[in-house]
Amino acid sequence: MRIILLGKPGGGKGTQAKMLTERLGIPQISTGDILREAVKHQTPLGIEAKKFMDAGLLVPDCLIKDLIKERLSQEDTKDGFIFDGFPRNLAQARDLEQISGDLGFSIDKVVYIDVPTEKIVRRLSGRRTCSCGAVYHVESNPPEEQGVCDACGGTLYQRDDDKEDVIKARIEQYEKQTKPLIDHYDEKGILVTIDGDQPIDDVFSEIMKKIGA
Ligand code: AP5
Repeated sequence: MRIILLGKPGGGKGTQAKMLTERLGIPQISTGDILREAVKHQTPLGIEAKKFMDAGLLVPDCLIKDLIKERLSQEDTKDGFIFDGFPRNLAQARDLEQISGDLGFSIDKVVYIDVPTEKIVRRLSGRRTCSCGAVYHVESNPPEEQGVCDACGGTLYQRDDDKEDVIKARIEQYEKQTKPLIDHYDEKGILVTIDGDQPIDDVFSEIMKKIGA
């Protein structure tokens, strides 16, 4: 199965992608995680991307297209994948259509996780992340021991772009660039809308039901 997760920053895409990966046995492809790794290792991509990420802006489409092509050339994506954070605008959706045509696959479902904007700042400012990819929230999804990852024992940290002024810029980018994708995929008949403003396990159950998995 090939799935796109769509939604506001902090809407729960990463949280649900990890649960889906575990249940469906297909990899999560998070462009945000790939970019953060590149920033950490100061690769040419990371150095270029950091300027945009720190400002809450989208990284240029050409860099993302190359990154996606490279990731989809890897063997573990052959039986399906979950896109988390890609595509982010109509140009990226068209890039994906070209890549999928070249590689001979199509997207099965686009899962739009709908969360009211007023909940977003609270979610993002309380988020704690581990370098292993696990995601927590100090109130709604705390680790067993404060500041320590349940999965790997690593130290949790707050993402640089989870500061209030950057969150505001990210929400603006979402409204201008990403939101039009809802209509784009609805017109293609592959969009399902999920109420993201309910407990994490309930969001997951609704997704599983609506994608028919
Ligand atoms: P990216 O990493 O993709 O960030 P995002 O889209 O802003 O999404 P987040 O990771 O912030 O949130 P999420 O929806 O995954 O929510 P989560 O599950 O963590 O992108 C970062 C930057 O990279 C971008 O700004 C851009 O610069 C660049 N970038 C990335 N992809 C790009 C692309 N394709 N093109 C160009 N640039 C790109 O949940 C958030 C919190 O809420 C957590 O604490 C979680 O525990 C909690 N939570 C989750 N679900 C619930 C629930 N149901 N109830 C209560 N709390 C919940």
